[in-house]
Amino acid sequence: MHEFDEEIDSLAAKILDYSLIRLKTDPPLDHPWSYEELCEEVGETITESGLGGEKALQLFKDVLAPACISTDHPRYLAFIPSAPTESANLFDLVVGASALYGGSWLEGAGAVFAENQALKWISDLAGLPEGSGGTFVQGGTIGNLSALVTARHDAKSKHPEIEKWIIACSTEAHSSIKSAAEVMDVEILTIATDESNRLLGKKVAQAIDEFHLENPKKRVFAIVATAGTTNLGVIDEIAEIANVARELGIWFHVDGAYGLAALASERTKPLFRGVEKADSLIVDPHKWLFAPFDACALIYRNPEIARRVHTQSAGYLEALERGEWNPSDYAIHLTRRARGLPFWFSLAAHGTKKYAKAMDKTMDVAQAAAVLIKAHPNLELLMEPTLSIVAFTRKGWKLDDYKAWSEKLLGDQVAFVTPSFHRGEPLLRFAIVNPWTSIEDIKMILERL
Ligand SMILES: Cc1ncc(COP(=O)(O)O)c(C=O)c1O
Repeated sequence: MHEFDEEIDSLAAKILDYSLIRLKTDPPLDHPWSYEELCEEVGETITESGLGGEKALQLFKDVLAPACISTDHPRYLAFIPSAPTESANLFDLVVGASALYGGSWLEGAGAVFAENQALKWISDLAGLPEGSGGTFVQGGTIGNLSALVTARHDAKSKHPEIEKWIIACSTEAHSSIKSAAEVMDVEILTIATDESNRLLGKKVAQAIDEFHLENPKKRVFAIVATAGTTNLGVIDEIAEIANVARELGIWFHVDGAYGLAALASERTKPLFRGVEKADSLIVDPHKWLFAPFDACALIYRNPEIARRVHTQSAGYLEALERGEWNPSDYAIHLTRRARGLPFWFSLAAHGTKKYAKAMDKTMDVAQAAAVLIKAHPNLELLMEPTLSIVAFTRKGWKLDDYKAWSEKLLGDQVAFVTPSFHRGEPLLRFAIVNPWTSIEDIKMILERL
């Protein structure tokens, strides 16, 4: 198993060949297969003596891969798609082949150095001060949780009398904030957004003041602003919320898993005014920064606070305590893949300007899609897109109509667009993060409405 013999040599050629074909050709949309279909077509793959690499690869090529929707297909517009650059995908192969350990400087100095440059690019775009830093974690969920755990630790040391800790965020905040609250056994103070679905600074100040007055034993330890909501792409009033957080001495976290990527474009950068005041922020390169799954950049204004919270200690880990930058020390993880490297490689290879250009392209398509929707006799645009998410409704449709349409759309292998909800009402949304998505793709979908 551990020898690069003739059999492996031939398998290597086949695997690389398959990978290159996947990279060079337009991805098929594909669709999920039922459990029964997969049992029938794949059968039992884990056997005592093994299927052999060729057979296992063939099963993957013929059945398992086509049973997965290609998230980089230009008409995959559901949830938040992915659109890794060719270089980022290629470098993912290198990371996979290299047994790099990305948890500590001792073991992975070169990888950590490169990842940190990519983090610094984001940190500088946000306007965070020199000395800010963090790590790449698996995804926005873990990024948010790690930041909030750090925030609570910081608050606890300042307010030992408090019995229950609270996160303040908007009704539109991502579900991962609720998940973090559950994991941390803290509560959430949900604050309503205005009619344009933004969380406003004055609403935050008012809600927290009232809450603290009524609950003297409870205290808000973190205010979360969303920089690009998942559903509608709305950016909260970041600067005003940051000021409130500063005045109240509360940690300010910006969840920019999807939207903060648009800091890279001069067009949209001003929309994030105030993010430079964040105590922590996240952005997922696997969403709109053209990196493969799974990479979330988690950055702290003062990483030392996070280091004190997250560093794991054990006798066998003492060898790592050398005063160097250990990515493991800044989040809830220990062993880690150098998952920021595909992003770093692509950024280093292409330069940052091309990132802005590719991003602008997706936003142009989103704007053009909004124009088409407004002109469409059956459709109503929910709101003008702020970034690259376009949400709309189909006149007269109920949830079942949306569901049936969406299933047929995928069944006919046209596109993957799923219904969502806003304020209890069903809608459709296009999340456009792929520079390959063209207005022709959008037209093709709208014709079916
Ligand atoms: C705003 C926001 N925050 C957090 C997340 C969670 O990120 P992940 O799916 O990488 O855990 C998402 C995912 O879509 C998101 O849009």
